Amino acid sequence: MSIEWIDAAASDELWDGAGIGVVVRGRELALFRVGDAVYATDAFCTHGHARLCEGFVEGHEIECPLHQGRFDLRSGVPTCEPAAEALRTYPLRIDGGRVWLSID
Ligand code: FES
Repeated sequence: MSIEWIDAAASDELWDGAGIGVVVRGRELALFRVGDAVYATDAFCTHGHARLCEGFVEGHEIECPLHQGRFDLRSGVPTCEPAAEALRTYPLRIDGGRVWLSID
């Protein structure tokens, strides 16, 4: 079965050390740029209803803006309490100036 890649955003919408919210096929997600790398996660923190794209990127971690829980953007693994449940991450590729996600 081949991977379906879905156009999520222009890559130049992403700024180093920051996130943006996107909606892909009705699913709310967040995209983050860290240097040359781009990561895709679910939009909301697994601890509460906080938008992670409004949090703070530090290295490869996102700090939730509500209670300062942290997740590793590469894996979704929580790295600081009160975040305890992993954040879903999504494969992506950048091609033609666009960010393409696989969400299945
Ligand atoms: Fe994110 Fe509580 S809502 S750490």
